[in-house]
Amino acid sequence: MTMTQLQHWRLTRRSPHLTRDLFELVPTTLPDTLQPGEIRVRTICFSLDPYLARGMQTWAGEVPGWAEGVIHGRIVGEVIQSAAPDIAVGERVWGVGRWQAEEILRAEAITRIAPEINPPSLAIGLIGASGISAWVGLHLANPKPGETVLVTAATGPVGATAGQLAKRRGCRVIGIAGGADKCAHAVANLGFEICLDHREPDLAGRIAAAAPEGISILFENVGVRMIDAALPSMVASGRISMCGLAAHYNSDEPFVFQNFKEFLYRQIVMTPFMTAGHRHLYPAAQAELLAGALDGSIHWDETVIDGLENVATAYLAMLEGTGTGKRLIRI
Ligand SMILES: NC(=O)c1ccc[n+]([C@@H]2O[C@H](COP(=O)([O-])OP(=O)(O)OC[C@H]3O[C@@H](n4cnc5c(N)ncnc54)[C@H](OP(=O)(O)O)[C@@H]3O)[C@@H](O)[C@H]2O)c1
Repeated sequence: MTMTQLQHWRLTRRSPHLTRDLFELVPTTLPDTLQPGEIRVRTICFSLDPYLARGMQTWAGEVPGWAEGVIHGRIVGEVIQSAAPDIAVGERVWGVGRWQAEEILRAEAITRIAPEINPPSLAIGLIGASGISAWVGLHLANPKPGETVLVTAATGPVGATAGQLAKRRGCRVIGIAGGADKCAHAVANLGFEICLDHREPDLAGRIAAAAPEGISILFENVGVRMIDAALPSMVASGRISMCGLAAHYNSDEPFVFQNFKEFLYRQIVMTPFMTAGHRHLYPAAQAELLAGALDGSIHWDETVIDGLENVATAYLAMLEGTGTGKRLIRI
């Protein structure tokens, strides 16, 4: 059997703290002949997602290949060869694959991307896992018109969408983001009422000043420092929708809460959720997100980095907070 020579990314050893030296681009091969039910895709882009950090650290993930330390993430590609009866060359699909320029995927494990979804990366961004997570997390918090919603990592693909959806539900929306430029973007382009820079001092005092009426919902993407700063401003029976802990994925520093007792005093309800556990909500979420993308009423943006060789550096930069919107590697 003839083989195509490629390169892909893997980790050199397991480590709880990801650093650039743990990533290596190594040669690999891909069969030129497909088995029945397989398709070959030319990779258009990879998704740089915070959740991958866990697989990179532990070498355990949604597909068996992680056990060899080979990175498997969401990829968008164009079908260039097909041995699946109902998938044609030229179709665009997304699935989970290795970080390499071409991949062979099982037809039953991919999702077709409809032609109106343009760019196709929206299928893994606004209309995919990022947007759906925002929709599900907000739904679980049951927002009511007039309530104030605080969203952390406000300019990432999840936070930006959660904030905009909260606005559509009639809420007042406050963001938290890292840096003046991100905060300006949250107000000017995403429609947040206010956005607070978490790098500036006294975050708790600035949240209190921004929300004298109290925070009803905290949509949490980052971690303890944000929750701790928000707790003294939360209304009684306030809700925290815990979507993610981006600040903790690549850090083993102990958690320090100054305001932990506020959970009890204010009877705060915190709901951690995994989006995949709420698949029954996907059709409603995707219908609203797709409509918002098509009519332009939901803003989305992408930070696109070119080149397979830049994946590891770009991944670590994303975890540290570089860029806004969906972070993608374009091949
Ligand atoms: N529950 C689920 O099923 C599910 C599904 C998808 C995503 N998620 C989670 O949702 C969250 C958002 O995902 P995303 O893809 O939209 O990521 P993202 O917001 O683009 O990236 C993470 C952001 O977290 C912020 N951050 C990282 N370290 C920080 C620190 N030490 N202090 C303060 N902020 C820090 C940075 O934003 P700033 O520069 O603005 O601080 C960074 O850009 C992630 O935690 C992700 O794991 C959960």
